[in-house]
Amino acid sequence: MAGIVEMQNSPRVDRIPVAVKQACPTIWINPAVADSASVLPDLALGKADVDGAVARWQRFAPLLTRLFPEEVSGRIDSPLIPLAAGLSDTILCGAGGRVLVKADHALPVTGCIKARGGVYEVLAYAEALAAQAGLLAEGRSYAAFADPEFRDLFGRHIIAVGSTGNLGFSVGLMGRALGFAVEVHMSHDAKAWKKERLRELGARVVEHRGDYGAAVAAARNAYSGRGNAHFVDDEDSVELFLGYAAAALDLERQLAAAGIPVGPVHPLFVHLPCGVGGAPGGVAFGLKLLFGDSVHPVFVEPVASPCMLVQLAAGLERPVSVYDVGLDNRTAADGLAVASASMLVARTLEKLVRAVVTVPDDALYRWLKILWTEAGIRLEPSAAAGFAAAGRFAQTIPAETRAAATHVIWTTGGAHLPAEEFEAALARG
Ligand SMILES: Cc1ncc(COP(=O)(O)O)c(C=O)c1O
Repeated sequence: MAGIVEMQNSPRVDRIPVAVKQACPTIWINPAVADSASVLPDLALGKADVDGAVARWQRFAPLLTRLFPEEVSGRIDSPLIPLAAGLSDTILCGAGGRVLVKADHALPVTGCIKARGGVYEVLAYAEALAAQAGLLAEGRSYAAFADPEFRDLFGRHIIAVGSTGNLGFSVGLMGRALGFAVEVHMSHDAKAWKKERLRELGARVVEHRGDYGAAVAAARNAYSGRGNAHFVDDEDSVELFLGYAAAALDLERQLAAAGIPVGPVHPLFVHLPCGVGGAPGGVAFGLKLLFGDSVHPVFVEPVASPCMLVQLAAGLERPVSVYDVGLDNRTAADGLAVASASMLVARTLEKLVRAVVTVPDDALYRWLKILWTEAGIRLEPSAAAGFAAAGRFAQTIPAETRAAATHVIWTTGGAHLPAEEFEAALARG
């Protein structure tokens, strides 16, 4: 009997390719991928939810402009940068097609993709508190959220988050800008400069002996059910997910403005670095709603931390971590050093992710250096992951569609890297 229970509970690690378990670079083509029209209607989230997120971002545009006048006029978004033909060709290993960079490494205010979710969730919480307190009179501009009566209200509340660094920074920066107390739970081996940057904002940093997952779990336990506190759950937050998903509309607008077609004969491949999965999952979901089967999300993970690959390959019956398959979750890509994927994201994206590609750390450093020297793009190691994957993945596209393909490589962080950190990373490239 005990044996049967064990079998039922054991993750299907036999479905995970041996190369993945051996930390070898792998291209995992998702066998469960299905057409969007059959998948999207059955999901718990849909277009109305993303439209709601876009509307909330718009309501807060006057506030963001007031708080960050030098960097933001309305929307927090990044440029879409075309790369020179020679560099595109190098990235795609001669497969053909064009490459553009969605430059969230230089996202205004925070310089990282996690702001799309983290800032959004802080705004959603602030809006709910303000509504409860009767501060949202009809027609009142949301610029008022920076007024003293709002700040007094927010100052009586705590926002807590567990983070590898960039989510904490995004939540910390926005939370502190509105007057919230902010507590960020991090693994003791998260980057020291990321902890210091948070302390400078006035956030409390709580260090945990375990990894990022342990920090998230500790924060969740400390804050669940507390009336004056909000826990931003990187592993399980619908608000984060929708904040990221709204980015899809930015990309759609930019592609249209650049005259780049997306359709059955012009497929769009979007290469997204993946940690717990929220940021790439949200963006991919938003893009699927817009472009259906013409868009192909490709998630990219470090060879030591392929948590989404492991979860999707093993099946969704129960959570599986990279430790379960003998990997150590040790990578230079600190933002992607996550052992267990978000089940919310895994369930939502199960049939929508085209592939997961794993990359070794030395490739991250190599591409970090190439992008800096050839295009002046300043990345942190996690954010270089898409470049290390796109060329290998492009070889798997049917030969007849390669030339008409557009590859968007999402760079997810790096513009705010301290000079010495960046120099050290360059030296390893
Ligand atoms: C620079 C960078 N890129 C990508 C990611 C991945 O985002 P997610 O953990 O939501 O998958 C992170 C996460 O912190 C990050 O910091």
